[in-house]
Amino acid sequence: MSGRVLAVVLAAGESTRMKSAKSKVLHTVGNLPMISHVIAALEKTGVTDVALVVGRDAGPVIAAAASGRLAVTAFEQKERLGTGHAVLAAREAIARGYDQIIVAYGDAPLIEPEPLSEALEKVRAGFDAAVIGFETEKPTGYGRLLVRDGELVAIREEKDATPEERRVTFCNSGLMAIDGVKALSLLGKITNNNAKGEYYLTDIIEVLRAEGGKAATVEAPADTVAGCNNRAELAELEAIWQRRRRHELMVSGVTMIAPETVFLSFDTTIARDVTIEPNVVFGPGVTVESGAVIHAFSHVEGAHIAGGANVGPFARLRPGANLRANAKVGNFVEIKKAEIGEGAKVSHLTYIGDATVGRDANIGAGTVTCNYDGFNKFDTVIGANAFIGSNTLLVAPVTIGEGALTATGSVITEDVPDHAAAFGRARQVNKEGYGAKIMARNKAIKEAGKAKGPR
Ligand code: UD1
Ligand code: CA
Repeated sequence: MSGRVLAVVLAAGESTRMKSAKSKVLHTVGNLPMISHVIAALEKTGVTDVALVVGRDAGPVIAAAASGRLAVTAFEQKERLGTGHAVLAAREAIARGYDQIIVAYGDAPLIEPEPLSEALEKVRAGFDAAVIGFETEKPTGYGRLLVRDGELVAIREEKDATPEERRVTFCNSGLMAIDGVKALSLLGKITNNNAKGEYYLTDIIEVLRAEGGKAATVEAPADTVAGCNNRAELAELEAIWQRRRRHELMVSGVTMIAPETVFLSFDTTIARDVTIEPNVVFGPGVTVESGAVIHAFSHVEGAHIAGGANVGPFARLRPGANLRANAKVGNFVEIKKAEIGEGAKVSHLTYIGDATVGRDANIGAGTVTCNYDGFNKFDTVIGANAFIGSNTLLVAPVTIGEGALTATGSVITEDVPDHAAAFGRARQVNKEGYGAKIMARNKAIKEAGKAKGPR
């Protein structure tokens, strides 16, 4: 493994079939733009620089590509004259001098580093190019890899193929490695003399062979090189990606009872001995530590869940939720930008936002931190071992002291000192005999209504 490697990533497509206001490569898989997946795979392959070939309105595409560690230079392809023409849009980058060039597509996000490394290896070993192919029962639309005596002799596009060539099921993924020293001269010899009148990158194979060079193939599993043309294919890529990521997590020690119902994000981090029940969705930015349990039907995003914590069923953790060890967040509870202390319990029907809950505090059912006045957000602080009675409204900013208690049904507008009890509700009044009176009155109203007939 050595040498400087430039990846030329093609993302100048019109994305017509996506029927979208934004570029295809910005659509996400596992909540990460496809282009970012491609760059991340290249990063693991020893690529040193990226030349990104973009079309119009390229700003967000460039930003998504540059989000990783690799240096990205963008080149605009002003007219779409084919894949060979697209690669040459990055002529200036290629001319800087590289040992190898990798060509990749921005709309094939599932690529894995291994076949890329293997293709680079072939070029280092003396092949002028190495093309990554895949076997498929449905080759229609793909370029066919024509192999003779172990060497790749040509890539034939569907429209230019003979009936016999069309029967070939070994297809071009679009990924290839090219000798970096020869690349510019080979690319320059590609013509547009074909059925589509385009400059086909794939013609580079016949060009290099005409000069006495040779090309190789590397096979990759079909589901790692799949591309995306429309939203149905995007959903297929998502399904493949989810399956792959769930498998990785399970093999690393995460229990999933019904893995096909668990949805992960590109950066979901789950430690061993975590149990995920069915129908759990992880948005971006979640870390779950060893021993935590996420019960069924929970939605978790931007959250940290420490060891031994218990979430759900039917819990919602929003960005900034931070559950300390052994904390419990139960059903129909929403937590936003709040720390739930070690061993603290928020068991039912509660909203905790912009808050800190101390260790071993107990938050009763129906508690709401009233954190928003329509314009501003305010904080609530609840001390360790505090007991918040059911249906307490905590009107922020407000602080509940350590070991303090709020009476059920309180509206708390003032700070509560440590170990105090706060009653923020009207005192109960019992009126003897008055219940029967009210009932008699209500019964009469109902009967009077009946006399008038149904409304
Ligand atoms: C291409 C390959 C085909 C391969 C298939 C795999 C060629 C000639 N054919 O066919 O052998 O089986 O991919 O999916 O290379 N692009 C540009 N600028 C252009 C043209 C294309 O940036 O002028 C980009 C597209 O956005 C896309 C990629 O290059 O990301 C491939 O182009 P596309 O037109 O989809 O090629 P295919 O006909 O699918
Ligand atoms: Ca395509």
